[in-house]
Amino acid sequence: MDHFLYRDGELYAEDVAVAEIAAEVGTPFYCYSTATLTRHFRLFDEALGDMPHLVCYAMKAASNQAILRTLAGLGAGMDVVSGGEYARAKAAGVPGDKIVFSGVGKTREEMRLALEGGIRQFNVESEPEMEALSEVATSLGVTAPITVRVNPDVDAKTHAKIATGKSENKFGIPISRARAVYAHAAALPGIEVIGIDVHIGSQLTELQPFRDAYRKVAELTETLRADGHEITRLDLGGGLGIPYTRSNEAPPLPTDYGAMIREELGHLGCEIEIEPGRLVAGNAGILVCRVIYVKSGEGREFLILDGAMNDLIRPAMYDAHHDIVPVLEPEPGADQRPFDIVGPVCESGDTFAKARMMPPLSEGELVAFRSAGAYGAVMSSEYNTRPLVPEVLVHGHQFAVIRPRPTFDEMINRDTIPEWL
Ligand code: LLP
Repeated sequence: MDHFLYRDGELYAEDVAVAEIAAEVGTPFYCYSTATLTRHFRLFDEALGDMPHLVCYAMKAASNQAILRTLAGLGAGMDVVSGGEYARAKAAGVPGDKIVFSGVGKTREEMRLALEGGIRQFNVESEPEMEALSEVATSLGVTAPITVRVNPDVDAKTHAKIATGKSENKFGIPISRARAVYAHAAALPGIEVIGIDVHIGSQLTELQPFRDAYRKVAELTETLRADGHEITRLDLGGGLGIPYTRSNEAPPLPTDYGAMIREELGHLGCEIEIEPGRLVAGNAGILVCRVIYVKSGEGREFLILDGAMNDLIRPAMYDAHHDIVPVLEPEPGADQRPFDIVGPVCESGDTFAKARMMPPLSEGELVAFRSAGAYGAVMSSEYNTRPLVPEVLVHGHQFAVIRPRPTFDEMINRDTIPEWL
């Protein structure tokens, strides 16, 4: 459920007409709903109920300071994957002891930054990383709390580019090697082993792969405890999918996910962490664009928008579907016909949808891409020297630009010309 609904014949974001924002901010822009972000975060928090837990929002999904501040205010922890994300989380007021550091390639500088600024735990993904972390921590005179990310070799049944839990993926250590790796960790002076981490992929639409992975984690917990390790925390990653089409998709709800976690892992008495990104932010954001031209091609019609693949890359990169709706509500039973919906960038990959059934639209009209809140703005670029797409946050009747559109001069002046040129 989200808070982007038609009211009096036009699309609203909570209590603000989307067209009113467009008139003030210009297009394209991302628009987020505070109420939707809040609702989705709380769904997870409540789903884990009485189990000791922390929901660490995977901020790679949408990392604007205003979004982080909103979630931090609800008690969210953060899952970060770079020094930049760590700095963003701190700047938004998240305390170090609520920040989890994930990722296969943490540098020593990033480790130092997090150890000095405070960290809940590192999710370590390899033995070389573990040794580097031990060295950095020892040099600072501290001990780094860690979980080891295990790769459970389960098929997440999602798009190949976002599946991470099969043995051929670069993530984690093979679960079959876990005992040896934990023994190694326990012997390192700068490391304190506190738990196990697993993340098998993103946009999962079934519970079974999670269940298979968590069952393996439960077994491993018992084995490692028998080996003498104190396993007190289980980080279960993110990945729960969202419906991208209104009609036929029904991924499991956070409540079902929480109940499954309790079933599989509740008896172990561990603190549970989860790292949802998409489900918190995905349906809490839309991308609003304007139709520049309606162009007739051979046997097809194109809707050329002012938004492009540099603003929302998911269709080009993952063949992702986003519902695209007119901001002015179509008449009930209005005629629909197929359009190829494209942006102005000079490559054919700049296609958002092919033969998409749409009501008649004309130049100047606004459309909204639904479910664009996660992995939308954060993956945008200035390709074709198109200004980085701005972001807006709505809260009830209020809205604010939370990242302005850069001017051409701002973009150009980031470059410097060498004095010898
Ligand atoms: N934890 C870890 C270690 C992750 O790698 C990810 C996502 C998450 C949590 C959050 O997963 P989520 O709950 O959002 O599914 N750009 C792609 C998605 C990449 C996901 C990468 N890792 C897309 O647009 O679909």
